[in-house]
Formats: sequence, C-alpha cells, structure tokens
Amino acid sequence: MTADSIVRVLAWEALDSRGRPTVACRVETAGGAVGRAIAPSGASRGAHEAVERRDGGTRYGGYGVRGAVAAVQGELAPLVVGRRAADRVAIDDDIEALDGEPGFARLGGNAALAVSLAVTLAHAAAEREPLWRTLDDGPRPLIPMPMVNILSGGAHAGGAIDLQDFLAVPVGASSFAEAIEWVSRVRAACAAAVDAAGGWSALVADEGGLSARLDSNEDALRILTSGIEDAGLVPGEQLAVAIDVAASQLVEDGRIRLATESMGLDSAAWVARVAEWVGRYPIVSVEDVLGEDDWDGWAVAARALPGIQLVGDDLFATDAGRLARGIREGAANAVLVKVNQAGSVTRAERVVRAARAAGLAQIVSARSGDTEDDWLADLAVGWRAGQIKVGSTMRSERTAKWNRLLELEASGETAFAGRRGIAPLG
Ligand code: PGA
Ligand code: ZN
Repeated sequence: MTADSIVRVLAWEALDSRGRPTVACRVETAGGAVGRAIAPSGASRGAHEAVERRDGGTRYGGYGVRGAVAAVQGELAPLVVGRRAADRVAIDDDIEALDGEPGFARLGGNAALAVSLAVTLAHAAAEREPLWRTLDDGPRPLIPMPMVNILSGGAHAGGAIDLQDFLAVPVGASSFAEAIEWVSRVRAACAAAVDAAGGWSALVADEGGLSARLDSNEDALRILTSGIEDAGLVPGEQLAVAIDVAASQLVEDGRIRLATESMGLDSAAWVARVAEWVGRYPIVSVEDVLGEDDWDGWAVAARALPGIQLVGDDLFATDAGRLARGIREGAANAVLVKVNQAGSVTRAERVVRAARAAGLAQIVSARSGDTEDDWLADLAVGWRAGQIKVGSTMRSERTAKWNRLLELEASGETAFAGRRGIAPLG
C-alpha cells in the first residue's frame, strides 16, 4: 500500500442548487488525503447524456438518488478501494466496464461521476497540488474566457422566453478580473432596464440570470445590447453576445416552436432568423441552434453562419463518438464540455483532447443544477479549454467558480485566454 492508496469511499445524498437531491462522494487515501465532490445536474438534459439515476416514487418528488448512492457503496467502492488515486484514468475505465451499459445506465452516471471526481480530487490532495496542476496538458495553465448568463429563458426560467441563455462574452477584456467586472456592470444595466420596463429584476432563473417575461426573444437581444452600451462598453469590441437556443427543448414535429411568438419554424427558416440576428446584434457564439439529432440542419447552419462560434451541447453530449461524427460532417466548431454528460472526468478529458486536435474550441460548462464545488474552474484551467460557462455573476454555486478563477489569476501563475479561445480558431 502507498500513501495515495484509496482506503475509503463514502457516498451520500446531498442537495444541488435547485434543491434537488444529488450524489456526493468522499474518497480517502492511506496518507490521509481527502477528495470530495458533488455531482451537478441539468434541466435541459439531452437525450444522449450519461444516465442520471433517480429513484422515482414520491420521495423528493421522484428525484431521490438513494439507488445511485447504494451503487457507489455496494459496487463502486469495492472496485476503487485499494487502488491508487493517481490511477484515475484506469479507475474510470473500469467503472465503465463494470457498469456494462452505454451511458452508465445500470449504476447511474451520477454515481460514476461523483466517484470519478472524488478520486481526481483525492489525487491532487495526496500530491499536495492544486487540482489544475495535476491535469496540466500544456506548457502553462490557461484562465478561460467566461461566457456569462444575463437573461434566461426556457427550462431555466419557467419558459419566460423560449431561448435558454442570453450571455455576455467580454471579448475585449485583458484579464479575467476585468472580464468579470465588465459582465457584472452589464448585468446591472440589464437589471435596471428590466425594472424600468415594469419587470422585476429580483426574480432570477436557475443560473442567476434575469428571468424577465418579454414579448419576444429578440427583445432579450435588444436589452442585452443596450445594457452593454449603458455599462459604458462597446458592443462587439469589448462585450459580445452569445446565445444558447437549447433547441432540443423547442423541437416539436420537426419544427422549432417559439411559444413567446406563437410560431413554429422549420430548421432552414429558423437558421435564417438566427442569421438575421447575427447581422443586427454583436453575436459571436450560438449554442444548440438546432435539435440534438438534426445533423443535416447543423451542417446547413454551419454554412449559413460563417465566422460564428457554433457550439454543440446536447448535439455532442460530451461524447467522443458524437464529436467525431460532428467533425466529419462539419456540424459545429466548438464543443460544450459537461463532465456529467460524459459520466467521468476521463471521458470528458478525452473529448477536450479530441476537440483540440481537430481545431474545435472547447467550453467547459457547469449545469443549471450545480453545487458549491469549485473544481470546474480547475478543470478548465488545467485542460487549457479556452472558455468557461457557469451561469450569471450571482448565486454562490456560480460565484464559487468565478472566485476560484479570480484566485488563480491573482496567484500569477496563469495566463488569460482572452478572445483567442473562441471559434473559429485562428
Ligand atoms: P442544463 O443547461 O444544465 O440545464 O442542461 C445548461 C446548458 O444548456 O448549457
Ligand atoms: Zn446548452
């Protein structure tokens, strides 16, 4: 036995930022190092994600995770105890093999991920290194460009508007601290605009964004663009806009259904509408513009939106196989990386590497149901993903990640990616 041999694995049911149960896990080594992590959970979940195992029934409205916790205690702990925390890659692969079903459908992706993260963190603790340093792929750790939620809709805001995220991307910022200061100013300006229009800016959505009920989706683009000006920043030059359509949530009979505007558009008409917006507003990035299985539509979108970062979230589901197909078919030029879509740190890490090798941008992302954990910041820095998406500038599960990045920048060992990490990559 070595000092980093795992001697104990403990799992329990914790709560996420939406107040729903989720799997927490603690891994302890012989030398006394501890890794502890809580699995995040999405609301606009894609069909191709690792399976989130829930108990069903009436307890916690069916969201309980006692089954997943029991899987950690009963099957994963015996597999992991006795192994070295440094062997996270082999452990993750063995957990996948033990599960035996695609997407960790038997044991639960939430069970597998909580263990994977806790092992990863226990390794860093055993090494007495910050997490990012144990992942470092490149010459220097890189602080990512943040993509920050300002207005929310869709599944995160009770359908206030249809599109899920309207985000600020501080492309002109010269440091991460400046980036956060700028987007905070923009959020405050947008909150004032919402209040002036008779809305109620105190109402925030799942990721801390404003959940204003507007007459149209384009109104959100107008508010955000004027908010940038009101904050004293130059739209496009200093502060750009990103949207996450989360289109898989809107597809009905093959059309994109916009309830706010009482209309349904086919893929081509919808992409044409988005292209008009790109002409009118300082949009640099469009996520999940079409449904997760509309591969032909995505290729059309890629041609219709040249020079724009097209991000696959539900499309790729942080899965190397789906990413490979997207690369072959020219479907998108950026991938959103969510560790719980993958079910393990190792599977997500492989997606980051494959995307980089193919020239796609990488955006490490939190979930709408997230936790006070801050390991996401270290994953982004250590993997040298050029971008990170965490939600808005408020609510502690969001600020935990921003604050960790501010700490890393203040420590002086890192460089800021700036706009370089945004696709199309130069
Ligand atoms: P989710 O949303 O965590 O609810 O899936 C995040 C996103 O779609 O980017
Ligand atoms: Zn998304």
